[in-house]
Amino acid sequence: MSADQPLVLGIETSCDETGVGIVRGETLLVDAIASSVDEHARFGGVVPEVASRAHLEAMIPTIERATRDAGVRLADLDAVAVTSGPGLAGALMVGVAAAKSLAVALGKPLYGVNHLASHVAVDIVEHGPLPEPTLAMLVSGGHSSLLLVPDVTAEITSLGSTIDDAAGEAFDKVARVLGLPFPGGPHIDRAAREGDRVAIDFPRGLTTGRDLERHRFDFSFSGLKTAVARWVQAREAAGEPVPVADVAASFQEAVTDVLTRKAVAACKEHGVENLQIGGGVAANSRLRAMAQERCDEAGIALRVPRPGLCTDNGAMVASLGAQMVLKGRTPSDLALPADSSMPVTEVQS
Ligand code: KG4
Ligand code: ZN
Repeated sequence: MSADQPLVLGIETSCDETGVGIVRGETLLVDAIASSVDEHARFGGVVPEVASRAHLEAMIPTIERATRDAGVRLADLDAVAVTSGPGLAGALMVGVAAAKSLAVALGKPLYGVNHLASHVAVDIVEHGPLPEPTLAMLVSGGHSSLLLVPDVTAEITSLGSTIDDAAGEAFDKVARVLGLPFPGGPHIDRAAREGDRVAIDFPRGLTTGRDLERHRFDFSFSGLKTAVARWVQAREAAGEPVPVADVAASFQEAVTDVLTRKAVAACKEHGVENLQIGGGVAANSRLRAMAQERCDEAGIALRVPRPGLCTDNGAMVASLGAQMVLKGRTPSDLALPADSSMPVTEVQS
């Protein structure tokens, strides 16, 4: 690690995680997180107002913890980066206001960056410089997208995305049907290990005929979710026990089959030899294994950050901020807004 590499602090508050990460160039120094997930659990989903308040309370302690654990002083920072969108409006505003205050108080440049681009950039601190172009698949509670990424600091195009539920949302809703806690992804992942993946043949959305023609690289998980709910209800109505592990494994198989099939097809069609997977669902053990198998078969190099860097965190924002500095990108205006529906093509605001 060289001291002439930019020292960047990144703030993430787009959903329920208050993340503060610090990187020096392409090296991660610290990734401090305070999550309000437990406060949302009883509602079965993230409650925006609860999340905003939790960000307010956690912001200063998390910044203090990050700088202390990294052994750096705020005055040593070269830049501050923050998620300016997309995400929950009130939650984003807390992060953007905090980042602006820091930048003004310290007299340092500010970079407002896209949450989705940050999910891609985080892999730089894990596996080194990002091959250009990279094809990225982002799968989380809020998004499911296939992105072509010629340059993560400046140019991202969307090849496809979900037309209804996000992949993580499907995990969360199916978990609810199975009586598993929120957020459901990790619970389904765990239950599925004891189950039979081919026990139930659940539908694979947008993978055949006309659907595939019109929605080549789009996803749909709402039909799958309904199919699982119907299957479980039929069992219950017949007074039979629900085989939770088999349902979890078969559902998970349907999701990961579609995701990996479309990701590999997109790589082939666009002549890209590098696939990166990010977002909370990338922590899924079956998705990771199946993606590895299919990429190996297709001669595609796969990069997936460790699970802790797949879910929302501050390191991803710091990593993208450091790339902005390294590539000489112009800092954002101090008047930059929080943009809850920021398009993925807009890497910086
Ligand atoms: O990226 P993330 O932390 O937040 C969003 O931007 O949404 O993703 C959270 C989502 C949740 O839906 C959660 O159920 C899912 O990621 N998730 C998983 C796993 N771990 C988290 N889904 C499947 N398997 C997992 N192991
Ligand atoms: Zn995310």
